Amino acid sequence: MAIHPPPMFVIIIIIKILFLSLSQISYATDTMTQSTSIPDGRSLISKEGTFELGFFSPGSSSANRYVGLWYKNIPVQRVVWVANRDNPIKDNSSKLIISQDGNLVLVNQNESLIWWSTNITTKASTSSLVVQILDNGNLVLRDEKNNNNNNSAGESSFLWQSFDYPCDTLLAGMKIGIDKRTGLNRYLTAWKNWDDPSSGDFIDILELTSNPETIFWKGSTKYYRTGPLIGGESRGTVGLRNNPIYGFKYANNQNEVYYMFTIKNISVISIGVINQTLSVRQRILWVPETRTWNVYQSLPLDNCDVYNICGANGYCTIEGSQTCRCLHGFKPKSPDLWNTMDWSQGCVRSGNWSCGGGVKNNDGFRKFIGMKFPDTTNSWINANMTLEECKTKCINNCSCTGYTSLDPIGAGKGCSIWLGDLIDLRFAQDGQDLYVRMDSAYIDAKHGLRKKVILTVSITVSTVLVMLLALSCVYVTKVKCKVTKVETVLTKNEDQGEDEDFELPMFDLTTIFKATNNFSINNKLGEGGFGPVYKGTLQDGQVIAVKRLSRNSGQGSKEFKNEVILCTKLQHRNLVKVIGCCIEGEEKMLLYEYMPNRSLDSFIFDPDQSKFIGWSVRFNILNGIGRGLLYLHQDSILRIIHRDLKASNILLDNDMNPKISDFGMARMFGGDQIEGRTSRIVGTYGYMAPEYVIHGLFSIKSDVFSFGVLLLEIISGKKNRALTYHEHDHNLIWHAWRLWKQDIAHELIDDCLIDSCSLPEALRCIQIGLLCVQHVPDDRPNMTNVVMMLGSEITLPQPKEPGFLNQRVSIEEKSSSRSETPSLNDVTMSRLNAR
Ligand SMILES: *[C@@H]1O[C@H](CO)[C@@H](O)[C@H](O)[C@H]1NC(C)=O
Ligand SMILES: *[C@@H]1O[C@H](CO)[C@@H](O)[C@H](O)[C@H]1NC(C)=O
Ligand SMILES: *[C@@H]1O[C@H](CO)[C@@H](O)[C@H](O)[C@H]1NC(C)=O
Ligand SMILES: *[C@@H]1O[C@H](CO)[C@@H](O)[C@H](O)[C@H]1NC(C)=O
Ligand SMILES: *[C@@H]1O[C@H](CO)[C@@H](O)[C@H](O)[C@H]1NC(C)=O
Ligand SMILES: *[C@@H]1O[C@H](CO)[C@@H](O)[C@H](O)[C@H]1NC(C)=O
Ligand SMILES: *[C@@H]1O[C@H](CO)[C@@H](O)[C@H](O)[C@H]1NC(C)=O
Ligand SMILES: *[C@@H]1O[C@H](CO)[C@@H](O)[C@H](O)[C@H]1NC(C)=O
Ligand SMILES: *[C@@H]1O[C@H](CO)[C@@H](O)[C@H](O)[C@H]1NC(C)=O
Repeated sequence: MAIHPPPMFVIIIIIKILFLSLSQISYATDTMTQSTSIPDGRSLISKEGTFELGFFSPGSSSANRYVGLWYKNIPVQRVVWVANRDNPIKDNSSKLIISQDGNLVLVNQNESLIWWSTNITTKASTSSLVVQILDNGNLVLRDEKNNNNNNSAGESSFLWQSFDYPCDTLLAGMKIGIDKRTGLNRYLTAWKNWDDPSSGDFIDILELTSNPETIFWKGSTKYYRTGPLIGGESRGTVGLRNNPIYGFKYANNQNEVYYMFTIKNISVISIGVINQTLSVRQRILWVPETRTWNVYQSLPLDNCDVYNICGANGYCTIEGSQTCRCLHGFKPKSPDLWNTMDWSQGCVRSGNWSCGGGVKNNDGFRKFIGMKFPDTTNSWINANMTLEECKTKCINNCSCTGYTSLDPIGAGKGCSIWLGDLIDLRFAQDGQDLYVRMDSAYIDAKHGLRKKVILTVSITVSTVLVMLLALSCVYVTKVKCKVTKVETVLTKNEDQGEDEDFELPMFDLTTIFKATNNFSINNKLGEGGFGPVYKGTLQDGQVIAVKRLSRNSGQGSKEFKNEVILCTKLQHRNLVKVIGCCIEGEEKMLLYEYMPNRSLDSFIFDPDQSKFIGWSVRFNILNGIGRGLLYLHQDSILRIIHRDLKASNILLDNDMNPKISDFGMARMFGGDQIEGRTSRIVGTYGYMAPEYVIHGLFSIKSDVFSFGVLLLEIISGKKNRALTYHEHDHNLIWHAWRLWKQDIAHELIDDCLIDSCSLPEALRCIQIGLLCVQHVPDDRPNMTNVVMMLGSEITLPQPKEPGFLNQRVSIEEKSSSRSETPSLNDVTMSRLNAR
């Protein structure tokens, strides 16, 4: 076979390619002298070939030319520094030179126009200047005669270095902060967008307060603060936590204040970068295998990190979604705005504050655990004081509103006090104890006998789940990490077994009559299980809810009192607080805190009201109920099965936080054991698990069933037992199951949620609901798992067939044998089982 000579055009192409690549070949040098220049198309490469300095056009634009620095040794161009970011060149004919006056300048071809200049006044002899690109990505201008590049102090004697003029990228070894001697302030300024490196208005800057911290600014708005840098790894400053990738250094001395990071393994490429589009600072990591930059960390972490989102003296907490609360002892400054979720006005002290009037001795401090270090602007610090000295310092000055330790780890050294409102508070995973000054009336009602105990409930799950969570917390902070640490504050006597000493506020009947206006019908809030509920106002102005229990509770006064005492000990933010009780003769009454927003059913089942509770509120409610129930099941001292969980037993506080009511009723009325068979069925049809209705078997899994029903109701806005479903669907569970099987579960979602909800989140909730109502109790998750499923993105199992599908007839049969026939299917019933 004859070999044909290549056609002419192929040869031309080959020559062209050769010519092009020759013309674009880089000078394989890292240094430029005064006799050379770098025109567009040429570049400098650092000694080890790590970084390249040259001309580029960012993103998809090709009109603008910039001089910049990027990684030479990775295939995706990532520009880490730009010289003329705010002054783009419009053609390809400019060049970098060292000018007569000793500056590195970017000029046009005939040197008549300066695009950019290092703009320094050089004192050194101008004949021996070189520009060099170092392997750490620092572009430097130095005097070659001054060979060791060190001055007497061991500091760099570069005439100029690009590390002093950061753009949006933080490289290892680069200082961010202020040189107090020269006033040089190094901070990061974002690119406007991927195509435009000019200075955006998103800035990451170290602010020089008494206790310097990093602030992100969006224009003139403070957007996020990391918390102070002393003590490094704590106080919610996630970016500084100990990690395998990088080390962190912070210095604050008379010369300078700065931080910088170092890479632990030099073969790892990792940088910090701020992004205006996303309003974040990300730590990204080059992954050679996938040839991508992966996000390793991202700040701010979540919505609670948004600066001062809850206003002064308010704090932010993530419970499914983000919510604001006032610190204990404070109330919303503008309740109307606060209730519409505009928290910006913050909180003011409730009641009198004598120190405001100059009386000091009426004051004390209340400890808040796990708080992010508040804004340091109006703070004062002393690194040597102990916590006790700190307290004394604060109490003696009425302007002082709170104090904390500077170094919460270890001995708790150092003191920071605040003068004025506490700003930008949140619960944080690595937060610390914050002591807030308040009138003693708000500190301890019970002569200091009580002690706050924080139980950190470690959730037992399979190793896989733990690892998944750990991964999502530590590595993938881009994905919101929902904190799964369940904090339970429970107040208990310092001495164990001191029930006799426990003061259960007992109210006499006359007080209650007075408070409720003789149980006036106007004061009646509703008819719950076990009896009617009235609104009442005590003489001191406190508004309460009084539950007048039906007389035939079958329990003696002493037993009853004991049960009530136990219930007052159950304290959780998602349980209604029991204030006291009243026992006189046949009358037994329970006093609760009053919930102005009444119960959940009045919202979700009401076509007008339901519009006002959007997805985030409902999701928050779901999470709250889950946590409350988890507390009852596992974390409380009693391990209580609620047995009558339903929408009308979920009360809502001012901020629409759910509070479970009527817990412990089953105990009060029967003294049942934890798990077993009961002779008395307490519960509400529609919410009761099949095994409970049919066989009287109850367990924590029957509560899980009720929770599942409640969950489906909250999402659908429909009652389980309303008879308005598809003709084949007897109830909501059936309906949800059918839609799920047909893969159209989204049809279950309440119409008024369509705009506000995140569909994947809502579908996930439906799946969790279906898991909870599975027929076999052992298949249902427990509340620990439910709370975790709601709060994380772990993969969910496929639900099996729910309970109640085929038992409809038998239920109706059972219902007809009720001793009292409730008019509504919603009324709690208790009946004797004919066994
Ligand atoms: C400059 O050069 C780059 C690449 O060498 C090219 O993409 C661009 O079109 C040129 N721009 C002008 C204005 O000539
Ligand atoms: C230099 O070039 C610019 C255009 O690039 C031209 O306008 C200017 O007149 C030139 N100056 C000299 C001194 O040649
Ligand atoms: C150089 O610095 C001087 C004063 O420090 C300033 O006024 C001038 O605008 C700067 N020039 C450039 C090109 O940055
Ligand atoms: C500069 O000073 C530092 C600290 O004193 C020293 O470790 C380094 O080797 C010096 N560099 C040169 C080039 O002499
Ligand atoms: C900011 O992040 C977005 C989303 O990841 C990305 O598309 C964009 O290019 C980033 N901007 C810059 C300037 O890196
Ligand atoms: C550094 O990273 C490389 C590549 O990831 C790895 O092979 C090497 O073992 C690491 N070195 C150390 C000391 O961890
Ligand atoms: C506040 O102080 C005033 C006067 O000292 C007193 O009359 C009033 O009862 C106090 N209010 C409360 C809620 O303590
Ligand atoms: C703290 O103690 C150190 C050493 O004990 C001392 O040098 C320093 O001056 C003290 N600082 C203050 C603010 O008292
Ligand atoms: C409280 O402390 C601040 C700051 O140290 C001080 O300015 C103020 O005078 C002090 N007030 C009193 C009453 O001591």
